[in-house]
Amino acid sequence: MKSVETKYLEAREGLLQGLSRLSRRDFLKVAGAAAGAALAQGLVPPHSFQPVRVANAATGGGDESFRFAYISDSHLYTRDLNDRFVRGLMRAVDDVNRLDPQPDFVLFGGDLAQLGQPQELELGAQILKDLKAPLHVMVGEHDWYFDLGEKWRSLFGADNYSFEHKGVRFVTLNSVVEADFWSAHGLTPMQRMKTVAGLDNGAQSSFTVGEANRAWLAKELEGVKSDTPLVVFSHSPLYKLYKKWNFWTDDAEEVQKILARFDTVTVIHGHTHQLLTNRIGNISFHGMLSTAWPWPYAPQGLPELTIQMGRPDPFNPNDGCGDGQVVVHTDGMGDKVYDLWNRNPVTVSRTYMKSRGQEDRPPAPKLVSF
Ligand SMILES: [Fe+2]
Ligand SMILES: [Fe+2]
Repeated sequence: MKSVETKYLEAREGLLQGLSRLSRRDFLKVAGAAAGAALAQGLVPPHSFQPVRVANAATGGGDESFRFAYISDSHLYTRDLNDRFVRGLMRAVDDVNRLDPQPDFVLFGGDLAQLGQPQELELGAQILKDLKAPLHVMVGEHDWYFDLGEKWRSLFGADNYSFEHKGVRFVTLNSVVEADFWSAHGLTPMQRMKTVAGLDNGAQSSFTVGEANRAWLAKELEGVKSDTPLVVFSHSPLYKLYKKWNFWTDDAEEVQKILARFDTVTVIHGHTHQLLTNRIGNISFHGMLSTAWPWPYAPQGLPELTIQMGRPDPFNPNDGCGDGQVVVHTDGMGDKVYDLWNRNPVTVSRTYMKSRGQEDRPPAPKLVSF
């Protein structure tokens, strides 16, 4: 007997095969037909509608202001090298498109590509175009270090930008700036990219937001009142967790200083591919799931507020992956929903964050740790 997972992936196969050959118009036709066929066969993946209910149950509802969805770290290779990651991103787009009501917007958290290749980024942009809700894209190191952002910027625009939404100020920040380790060694663009992609090779510098981006951030926030809720999107966590894997931002304290005058700050980051929660001063930090693979947890230990996900099943390539949502309440704080594909969703509520873990602790995941 085939698993739900296998059936679902088979239903997507025709669409995947045709992806590179289709025009945008044909792509939409095929995508719509494939989604309809999957629905008709009852092949909707598990959890597709659950996060909405879970979020409401966890918070009692009532004072919810709005929600946005997130997808992150798809690490696309070109299709001839690896189509599993392509399927992962398409599955996340399907998940988000099925949310009812639709989120106000979708954040893509960086590492769209694996090796920063123009074809990888174009493939990702094409898949993300299928989202019904408006999209905001953040840059990750895998998108950047082949051509230092040239292709990424041509597809998605500026790497630092901010916008206001329903009284909340959102800021998207490039936090993966590395000191030049390549010029002195005469590295080719691909050698530079592969060095950055190997997180634990010790041959690169640590991530920073960097002086120029910090100056941009300070200026961008100059006129924003301190009681305005602030949500910052960064690819690396804006604190120091584990340097050897670049789960780390070297000038984190300086960035935190810029954010310190605000009453309510939430940082949503990619890069770590796991459930990860921290609170430093006025700032709540939440990691995002990847659609490609889950990283193991850093060996040096975790922030105490982190609800650990179990070690994913090594025989199931989608276990530990997923997407999710953030429910932003009228007080400006968010409930972070991790929609794990093969497990129950986990909601890390604002009550839990505000009480620093004293109240509303999410239940520990019940499934076995592999
Ligand atoms: Fe990543
Ligand atoms: Fe990354």
